[in-house]
Formats: sequence, structure tokens, C-alpha cells
Amino acid sequence: MKFQVPRGTRDILPPDSDRWAEIEAQARRILSSYGYREVRTPIFESTDLFVRSVGESTDIVRKELYTFTDRGDRSLTLRPEGTAPLVRAYLESSVLRQETPARLSYLGPMFRYERPQKGRYRQFWQIGAELLGSKEPAADVEMIDLFVSIMREVGLTHARVLLNSLGDSLCRPVYRERVRDYFGAHLDALCEDDRERWKTNPLRILDCKIPKCQPILEGAPNVLDSLCEPCRTHFENVLGGLRAMEIDVDVAPRLVRGLDYYTRTVFEVHDSSLGAQNAVGGGGRYDQLVEELGGAETPSIGFSIGMDRLFLATSEEHPEGAPAEPDVFVVARQPEAVTDALLAARALRRAGGRRDGPPLRVMADVQRRSASSQMKVASRAGAKYVVFIPAEADGYAVRDMAAGKDETKQTDLNQLRDWLRERRRERDASNPRENS
Ligand code: HAM
Repeated sequence: MKFQVPRGTRDILPPDSDRWAEIEAQARRILSSYGYREVRTPIFESTDLFVRSVGESTDIVRKELYTFTDRGDRSLTLRPEGTAPLVRAYLESSVLRQETPARLSYLGPMFRYERPQKGRYRQFWQIGAELLGSKEPAADVEMIDLFVSIMREVGLTHARVLLNSLGDSLCRPVYRERVRDYFGAHLDALCEDDRERWKTNPLRILDCKIPKCQPILEGAPNVLDSLCEPCRTHFENVLGGLRAMEIDVDVAPRLVRGLDYYTRTVFEVHDSSLGAQNAVGGGGRYDQLVEELGGAETPSIGFSIGMDRLFLATSEEHPEGAPAEPDVFVVARQPEAVTDALLAARALRRAGGRRDGPPLRVMADVQRRSASSQMKVASRAGAKYVVFIPAEADGYAVRDMAAGKDETKQTDLNQLRDWLRERRRERDASNPRENS
């Protein structure tokens, strides 16, 4: 019997996993620089949480949930997104409610039973940020600025920000009826999915990608013409704030989102290099969600970035991940000296002070191979230096692998470590790419 990775999932292997770790570190750095603090929620939650928040009529809830009953007869669901779990945690933990607004973030795997294709998986990763407790347009501006800063940090420079407003509980129902009436008069020309959406969620028709539906979609009423006065003012203030911060956005009146909790501002970031699944991330305001889940009035806004897509969209600029070559390979000349090699390797890795940087990357052979095979392994691994375990107490010989010559002999491992760190500093100074 042969096992395979489940459909729609994949293993993230080196060197890709190095780049993933780098993206995570870059995103965390930016989130922290904006004052967002990470919350780690469980991977599964009670099914109701998602039905109530994401919405019963959405594709996510209707077709894509991974739901199971546990041994205690509870209906649980692998989280399809991170906002509802975060709001659940916010309502449950007063720690998260100490500051208003609360600035929170998360990073982790999400699960949707979708048809797999490039950039679309059944297990995928999101980086998310949520700002809970502000109705101000400045909160929307900060969110979009934060999104763009993360994009810039990971090296995604050509992405477009699309912005729209979906109105609020006053003006959206009116718009929804206008859209229902409009598409009601064109049902025969729409695809089957759209006819289904017309019954349950007519605004989702605006997001249809089927070519034959496009001419009908183009004639649909524009949401921005239906906004009530407060929603219009909010939208204009958001646009004004973004202009003042020199953040380019495209107003996209047909941008609707796949989740039901949004009010007013919605946005997506698209990158054309991704093909059909071109949304790197998206988000928006959800001014009623906290109340709907049992909390006090807490207008909020947030976004999530799809890390899988971020990885795909930036992998051309970063063809290989972080350098993985060892700084040092410790070679035992006699097979019996294997433990001496492990001991020396551990001593060389030992972290120094902050200015010494991360520990040296040091490897040793555990296979009791001959010294010449160990040299081959060291060379294949791209080790910069080989340190030989001395046969007698006459010091550690060090070979510079690139130059192919013996460099120095040290009797003291601490001094040897300092000497090797100094060499790494010189290398880093002459090759800044390896620094990152
Ligand atoms: P979403 O648009 O459903 O929003 O997902 C955000 C991003 O997650 C997408 O733009 C995409 O990059 C990525 N993504 C979604 N599904 C998949 C998939 N099957 N495979 C790979 N990547 C995927 C949300 O999830 C909201 N929680 C965003 C939000 C936060 N709104 C307010 N706060």
C-alpha cells in the first residue's frame, strides 16, 4: 500500500520551506512594527461559529467546510478562515479587550474543500490582521497601509489594490433588491451557478467569472450609486486618507467578497502573475460581526493574505531560499572519534553575544565514514570550512574549502569559534544577499 499526500494538500520541502519561513518572519516583523500582536487560535472550532459568521449561503459554508463529529458528539469544523475564531477569542478573553481598538494578528493553516488548482489548495496558509473597535476611516487606511507594507517587505511590488464599499444594514438591502430585480430580468442569460446565487445571495453574481455572463454583469446597478450618506462619506474619507498616504487603489464597484460578514469597505489585492487565482489577499469592515456573535457594538476591519499565493507571486525574485550551506563541517579522521566530532560541533554552534549574530551552522558526520568520504559530504553540502578532530592534542586543523588550503590550527574551541565567526562576518560583508 502506498500513501500519498491528500488531494489539494502538499508538502512544503526545502529549499521552499526556507523561503516560507522567511515570508513568515518578514510578515511578523511588519505586523509587530504596526503594534499588532499575535493570537494563536485552535485549528478547529464549533461548526456554528462559521455558519453564523461566514454565512449560511456562502460557498464556504455550503460546500467547503471540513466538518466532523468528535467522540463527544460535538460538531466541529477545521477553520476555513481566521476572522471568526479571532472574534470568538476576543469575546472570550478580556486580555484582548484591554485596549480599544485592539490590534491583533494570526498566521496559520486554513481548510476549504475546494477544487484544487494553481494557487488554490484544501489546506492553505493565511497571515491576517484585525483591528477591533474602531469605526473611523483612519482604521481602514491603516489596514490597507499595513497590507501594502507587508507586500513591499516580501518583494511583491506590482500588486493592485481594489477597493469598494458594500454599504451597511440600511443601504445594502436596498441595493440587494435592485441587483435581484436586475438579474431577475436576465436569468435566462446567466449560468446555472448564477441562477442559484440569485435565489440565495444575488450580490455574489457580480463576482461571476464565466465569460458569457460578463455582458449582463456590466449592466448591473453600481453599488456606489446606492450608498446612504454616512456610507458614502466614510468611503470618500477612506479614499482621501489613502491618497494622502500615496497608496494607489482602483475603485472596483463590482468587488464583492465570498464571506457574508462585510459592511462598508471591502478590498482585495490582485497580482496578475498568479493566473486565475489572482487574489493575494482580501478583507474589509465587519461592523456587526462582534455583536452577532454575542459581544457589544464593536465596529472592526481586517484582512488576510494567502501565503501560498504570496509565495508563488514572489518566487521568481527569490528562486532559492535562504542559504543552507553549513559554515563548518567537522571531520573525524578516525571513526572512533565520532563523539568528539559531535562535541566539537556543539561547542562551535554555541551562541555568542548579540553582535555575533545567529549561531554558526555546523554539521558533523554520524555515519562513521572514512575521512575522505566525510570530505566529499562536506564539499557536497557546500561547507565553507572543514574542522578536523585532531588525532592527538595538537590542535584543530581548519581547511578553507573554496580556496582548498589549510588555514589555521587552533587548540581552543572558543577561539576557533571566534575565528570562524569573524570569517562569516567578512563573507557577509562582501555578499549582502547571504545576510538576509
Ligand atoms: P478570503 O478572501 O476568503 O478572506 O481569503 C483571503 C486570502 O486567502 C485569499 O485572497 C487567498 O489569497 C487566500 N485563500 C483563500 N482560499 C484559498 C485556497 N483555497 N487556497 C489558497 N489560498 C486561499 C478571508 O478569509 C477573510 N477572513 C479575510 C478577512 C480578515 N476579512 C476581514 N478580516
